[in-house]
Formats: sequence, structure tokens, C-alpha cells
Amino acid sequence: MKQGQKSFDMFSLVVGALAAVAVAIVVLAIAVPDLSLRMFAADTEDHRVAVEDRIRPLSQVYLPGEEHGAPEPVIASAEPVVPVATLLTGPQVYNEACIACHGSGIGGAPMISDAAAWAPRIAQGISVLRERAIAGFQGSTGFMPPKGARVDLSDQEINDAVDYMVAEARK
Ligand code: HEC
Repeated sequence: MKQGQKSFDMFSLVVGALAAVAVAIVVLAIAVPDLSLRMFAADTEDHRVAVEDRIRPLSQVYLPGEEHGAPEPVIASAEPVVPVATLLTGPQVYNEACIACHGSGIGGAPMISDAAAWAPRIAQGISVLRERAIAGFQGSTGFMPPKGARVDLSDQEINDAVDYMVAEARK
């Protein structure tokens, strides 16, 4: 009987110990997730930043102006380009637009080298010659088309050409 009592005590002890371990496991099972949640809380800003840093790609492609942390590209404001109006000189205009008729006397045009033909015309005054060269002129020897049919030329260019022709005729 004594032997039986001893076995029972031993048995109770083991069962008690096992029960204690079971309780400890239950307590831990409840406490640990709670604890780990607090230790590795996933909903904090630090956590989010840390995770994003760990999983960020090795490299990234940025389009111009998108550079991470780069300052906005400064676009220099360029001065608008003002086209330079280049005027043709008197001789240039003559060679381009007047020589066809005034070089050879075609259609009754006074030849540039014909001083006699030019003398009475020059006597009218330079302003009359310039006006007729720009506006066109029907005279007794033929038709002088406006600007020698080169309406793309400026009045200034035609005036310079007239001055050149008059100067040549006087030579
Ligand atoms: C298509 C032929 C033709 C071209 C091109 C031409 N002329 Fe004439 N021009 C004439 C004729 C013809 C006359 C003479 C008109 C008249 O007196 O009957 C004339 C006359 C003139 C006269 C004299 C006007 C006057 O009052 O006597 C001037 C100045 C003149 N031309 C300037 C020019 C200039 C400058 C150009 C070039 C930009 C030019 N011409 C191109 C045909 C031309």
C-alpha cells in the first residue's frame, strides 16, 4: 500500500507539472503574439519606411525633371531671336531685279550706261524716279513694272537701286 501511495504521489506530481507546463504554454500563446505585435508593430511610420527601404528596387529610371530629390531643372529663358532684316545694297538689287531690262534696254527701258537717256529723267528729281520705280510707271518708251516686278523687295532697297542707277548713268 505504501508503495502504491508513492506511485500515486509521483503520478500526481507529473500530472501537476504537465498541467503547469500546459498552462504556461497557454499563457505564452496568448501573450507572445501580443508581445510580438508590440515589438514588430507593422502599422507605424518607422516600420513602413524601413520595409520600403528594404524592398526598394536596386535601380530606378527617372525621366528628366523627375530625379529623386533633384532640384527642378531651371529652364533659362532665352531672349527671343529677332531676325535681322538684311537689306540688299543698290548694286545687288540692280543685279537681281533691274538688270534684265535696264542692262540691255528691253521693252524701252533706259539702259544704265545710256547717259543721254537718263539725263531728262534725272532732271525730274530723284524722288520722282524713286516713286515710279516703286509704284510702277507707264511712260512713252514702255512699262516699268512696280519694283521691277520684285514686290518682295523693300522700298528702301528699290530706292538704293535707283540711286545706284542714277549714279551709274552720270558717270
Ligand atoms: C520688265 C522690265 C523692267 C524691269 C525689270 C525694271 N524696269 Fe525700270 N523701267 C522699265 C521701262 C520700260 C522704263 C521706261 C518707262 C518709260 O519711261 O516709258 C523704266 C524706267 C525706269 C526708271 C525711270 C523712271 C522715269 O521716271 O523716267 C527708273 C528709275 C527705273 N526704271 C528703275 C528701275 C529699278 C530700280 C528696277 C529694279 C528694281 C527696274 N527699274 C526694273 C522697265 C523695267
